[in-house]
Amino acid sequence: MSNHALENAAHALREARCAMAFTGAGISVESGVPPFRGPGGVWSKYDSGKFEKSYFRRHPDEVWPLLKEIFFDNFGRARPNPAHIALAELEGAGKLAGIVTQNIDGLHQAAGSGVVHEYHGSTRRMQCMTCRRFFDSADIPLETLPPPCPDCGGLLKPDFVFFGEGIPSNVHHAATELAKQAEVCLIIGTGGTVQPAGRIPYVVKSHGGILIEINLYDTEYSYRTSDYFLQGKAGWMTPMLVQAVLE
Ligand code: APR
Repeated sequence: MSNHALENAAHALREARCAMAFTGAGISVESGVPPFRGPGGVWSKYDSGKFEKSYFRRHPDEVWPLLKEIFFDNFGRARPNPAHIALAELEGAGKLAGIVTQNIDGLHQAAGSGVVHEYHGSTRRMQCMTCRRFFDSADIPLETLPPPCPDCGGLLKPDFVFFGEGIPSNVHHAATELAKQAEVCLIIGTGGTVQPAGRIPYVVKSHGGILIEINLYDTEYSYRTSDYFLQGKAGWMTPMLVQAVLE
């Protein structure tokens, strides 16, 4: 990646009246959270079919230990890395209107970002599938699996989108509206392979926006859609770009 590309990308981001970020698992890899696909991907170790909503309903005793292992034990230790922190700084400087993230690890909020649309939900909440009440995951012990609803004893489900589930309409609407307004969108750590999330950058583009992509490898976006492809680790490239914007 040439410094020229970084400078031009930083200029576009600096000049934008409204900028956003669209992030995926790759932004959290340097926090120790494995990606879903690619080297060390979660779906190369676990059968994603078990995280289909109807399968979970039929086999909660089998799926909950996997949920704990993949999403709770591991995420609990993860801390924001310089990429999450750089985006929070950009928002603090008034140069980022918000983030649409596919991640459920809560690391953007932990880094200090305020406007975060969690397109696939979050592990920080659970919902009872019987009484529909929500609970803070921190208040739900995971010694007994499946954890019973504290109110009615029903089956609790982590409040993130399982395969076969729709996107919460309020989040889908907010994310799409932001994408329509954005003059620049930073695409960080996602291959855009999962829909409808993967269409967000195309909404920005179809409304005349500029796409700046940061990824370790090239993706479906890289050569046909992104205006700038800054190849490298998110934890290194994102702070570099933000520093160039804010200096
Ligand atoms: N820095 C930048 N990018 C990285 C890094 C890194 N250190 N490590 C990996 N990547 C990139 C990979 O090249 C890939 O493009 O991050 C992306 C990870 O891809 P996925 O694991 O498919 O993550 P994501 O695109 O967020 O998946 C979307 O799929 O399973 C569902 O709901 C799940 O939200 C997830 C969705």
